[in-house]
Amino acid sequence: MPRPIQCTIHTEALRQNLQRARQGAADARVWAVVKANAYGHGIEHAYEGLRGADGFALLDLSEAQRVRALGWRGPILLLEGVFEPRDLELCSRLGLWHTVHCDEQIDMLALHKTHEPHRVFLKMNSGMNRLGFTPERYRAAWTRLNALPQVDEISLMTHFSDADGPRGIAHQVARFAQATRDLPGERSLANSAATLRHAVDPAVRADWVRPGIAVYGSAPDFPEHSASDWGLQPAMSLEARIIAVQQLQPGDSVGYGSTFTAEQPMRIGIVACGYADGYPRLCPTGTPVLVDGQRSRTVGRVSMDMLAVDLGDLPQAGFGSTVTLWGRAAGGALLSIDEVAQAAGTVGYELMCAIATRVPVCRAD
Ligand SMILES: Cc1ncc(COP(=O)(O)O)c(C=O)c1O
Repeated sequence: MPRPIQCTIHTEALRQNLQRARQGAADARVWAVVKANAYGHGIEHAYEGLRGADGFALLDLSEAQRVRALGWRGPILLLEGVFEPRDLELCSRLGLWHTVHCDEQIDMLALHKTHEPHRVFLKMNSGMNRLGFTPERYRAAWTRLNALPQVDEISLMTHFSDADGPRGIAHQVARFAQATRDLPGERSLANSAATLRHAVDPAVRADWVRPGIAVYGSAPDFPEHSASDWGLQPAMSLEARIIAVQQLQPGDSVGYGSTFTAEQPMRIGIVACGYADGYPRLCPTGTPVLVDGQRSRTVGRVSMDMLAVDLGDLPQAGFGSTVTLWGRAAGGALLSIDEVAQAAGTVGYELMCAIATRVPVCRAD
């Protein structure tokens, strides 16, 4: 009997979320961003729900190989481009499009021997200061790329630092627009937050949008908006069962460090999920959970393999009850991953990506 913990990937939710991103982007094409093993969902588990995308964007060549192995013949974009010259051989072999963000990548391309010229996405650093050519250096990079026989089509891209927040994107959009004004080629700017919040502007949705977190059903700008505000469904549920019940008396404490002490008699359930499964240790007492679909809370510190939940208002719940740590419970009740992430002082992205390999994952419709 395996430990009673399960991660479920919801194919229909992925489909609907992708559709939602598409609606936000009007006639733009949609990259489904599946880096980091589809944000922890597993590329193979997520593929069925996301195959309606126009392309897959990711980082690792091994992930690109996995997408091709699933039968995907359409575009695949390497969001960080290549890391060393031999990566270009795989780009040629698998027909991968790749980002070019620095001179070293242009040097590698110039030395690459290929029969099929490559499609590249030239990245501008329009203010994020992570990857890309500054607006001042962008045109020279474009000219250099354009002169290479190894390059076929050059698309233009940038990435926003504040699409989810008050600073917004106008300053970056203006820099990008100014520096690319008379350059030919398709354009791609928007991540999830920009797609949901700003893509009414045709300059923002451009030719391609690149939603990641939204297709997995988490709000990029929580708590300003929730996933349901945006019409997004959780694509991942993490569930585990109660494997023991304790009856506490006033003054009894729970777990390592005795961080929770009962003030009155109460029942707690011990759940087969801990930080070694990917549940954040930083979640304090009071973090929301669903017990048999009813909302309750954690009590005490999360340990490696277990956590405790309050069964005070749930007399029917006990040994074997299902606890939804995030996602969708059997009866349809929802617990947003964003709420749990907020309790841990982080974002839904981190929780999804942290599901441990020991947790069995299955796919549902
Ligand atoms: C270049 C690029 N585009 C798109 C995305 C997708 O972002 P999000 O998951 O916020 O939609 C990312 C993710 O970090 C990225 O690095």
